[in-house]
Amino acid sequence: MKPVVVLTAQYPAVVREILAGLCDFVEHPSEQGRSDDDMITILSEADAAITVLSDPLTRNVLEANPGLHMIANYAVGYNNVDLQAARELGVTVTNTPGVLTEATADLTMGLILAVMRRIVEGDREVRATGRCVWEPLHLLGSGLTGKRLGIIGMGRIGNAVATRAQAFEMEVIGVRRDESLDELLATSDIVTIHAPLTGQTHHMLNAATLRAMKRGAFLVNTARGPLVDETALCDALDDGHLAGAGLDVYEDEPSVSPRLIAMPNVVLLPHIGSATHETRNAMARIAATDVALFLRGLKPQNIIT
Ligand code: DGY
Repeated sequence: MKPVVVLTAQYPAVVREILAGLCDFVEHPSEQGRSDDDMITILSEADAAITVLSDPLTRNVLEANPGLHMIANYAVGYNNVDLQAARELGVTVTNTPGVLTEATADLTMGLILAVMRRIVEGDREVRATGRCVWEPLHLLGSGLTGKRLGIIGMGRIGNAVATRAQAFEMEVIGVRRDESLDELLATSDIVTIHAPLTGQTHHMLNAATLRAMKRGAFLVNTARGPLVDETALCDALDDGHLAGAGLDVYEDEPSVSPRLIAMPNVVLLPHIGSATHETRNAMARIAATDVALFLRGLKPQNIIT
């Protein structure tokens, strides 16, 4: 009997091409907000699984599925996986690093441009009125040239954002996520965060650190929602301490705060940082190759456990 690989979403075709002949597939349509019980059922037949970042791979789920030996998490982030439990239970976990860098950095620049130049507000206006009106004081935004961009987290994505920002003649200040944020927060016109979500980075931007940002600054987050205390962010936007925000991720995905939805100076995207054909195919190739290696008794290349 062939091993069973459970696909918890529909992935690019290259997954099945790489794994063809090596296993049988069980595919589940993508579904947000899965509970532990949902995952226990979905993974019940699995020897290995390719999972998405919204799948909770908790101790509960892993313990309930002793036949599951390998998880290829189709993401660079792995905050949805209890790595400690996986290690203890001997479950191999892999991720898809490296190939999301450019796509996520591009989208970060897109959000910076959108929020500072009020691109989405302009689009909404043209659609609503059916007119294009030029007026000297209409929809004025902020220029990027000469502005200071504070990058929290100078890993691959942070560095790729810095390269792009320099091409826009922005002044870049970057700190590693374990360094002091004081100068960055006090002096940056825009702050963008590129850190993994861990116990240490949860609510890294909270009421105090958001207040420490320069008045009138913008915040961009394409990393993980819970890095930012969303209630504190809404407060800072509401009272005008921050001028706007560009968000691709949310504290309580798939829900998005109605307060954010009501704010015209906030651009909201549905977690599409890595959503290019090139990147999603590359992620699929990496995840499936690691599953294939595992099924052949070889060592996967991107083990995080
Ligand atoms: C990741 O890989 O961690 C991204 O958030 C998915 O796009």
